Amino acid sequence: MTDIKARITEDAKLMESVLESYLSMTDDKYPVLFEAMRYGVLDGGKRVRPFLALEFCRMAGGDDKAVLPFAAAIECIHSYSLVHDDLPCMDNDMLRRGKPTNHVKFGEANALLCGDALLTYAFEIASNNEYVDSKGVVEAVKLLSNMSGVFGMVGGQQIDLLSENKSIDMDTLKYLHSKKTGCLIRCASLLGCIAAGDKCTNELYEAADKYASGIGLTFQIIDDILDVTGDEAVFGKPIGSDAEQNKTTFMTFMSVEDAFEEAKKLTEEAKAAISKYEGSEILCDFADYLLYRNK
Ligand code: IPE
Ligand code: IPE
Ligand code: MG
Ligand code: MG
Ligand code: MG
Repeated sequence: MTDIKARITEDAKLMESVLESYLSMTDDKYPVLFEAMRYGVLDGGKRVRPFLALEFCRMAGGDDKAVLPFAAAIECIHSYSLVHDDLPCMDNDMLRRGKPTNHVKFGEANALLCGDALLTYAFEIASNNEYVDSKGVVEAVKLLSNMSGVFGMVGGQQIDLLSENKSIDMDTLKYLHSKKTGCLIRCASLLGCIAAGDKCTNELYEAADKYASGIGLTFQIIDDILDVTGDEAVFGKPIGSDAEQNKTTFMTFMSVEDAFEEAKKLTEEAKAAISKYEGSEILCDFADYLLYRNK
């Protein structure tokens, strides 16, 4: 077993400094926007998506410096999605990453703009990646836009809203989860493959996608479980938010135990998709780490 916790901490530290430098700018005519962006991204967050990008790039034989801009871009998009997800018109939550939510701290309009700015800035960061050839950059930007927008995360958020106060079937719920959470997790993993350039084979790219689809769905199942059973001080966000908003989640269909069994099965399938590749132990251990997480 690799020392997965040490590796997660190490990667998160690296990512924090990269994000710090991307978010170090300001403008004295509107400093609040820069402050809100920094607040929404820095200091908190498990950096799950950057970890996937970094580790897939390394496993495929690529260089860290090629993937770091892509990893920063996906974390900016993920952070924007959280800022907007917490707004009063969405999930109406007051706590995120153990801190008051962006709109509580900066006001609703500023939080809205902060999300807009983070989303757009992500594309600025990704498209300026100097360590990947232009074909790779175009591929990365296409993937980021496809997985983040109407066909991806935002599409999932829309199905999530449509499912409030209404029963949807299990297939629709899985479709919802695969989009609202799965897409950015797949995107992060595949960005790692793209950053590795020709070193990443088509076969490995497909395997990465299969792994990421499995852990992506698992990730949201565990999030749904923790929304019921979690400890707010550890989870860093409110417990019971889904029930309060009348969301359809895995908890609507099954017990905590059965949902966990489903997540376990998906984790095993995800690991199997990549286990034959050299260096896959870290990502296999990471899948288990995410399954047993409490935050
Ligand atoms: C929270 O994502 C939103 C979901 C997709 C469930 P994370 O659990 O990765 O949140 P942070 O980045 O660690 O705060
Ligand atoms: C939303 O799912 C995931 C996003 C696309 C932001 P949740 O609404 O369950 O995420 P949390 O629990 O607020 O982090
Ligand atoms: Mg939500
Ligand atoms: Mg939410
Ligand atoms: Mg949740």
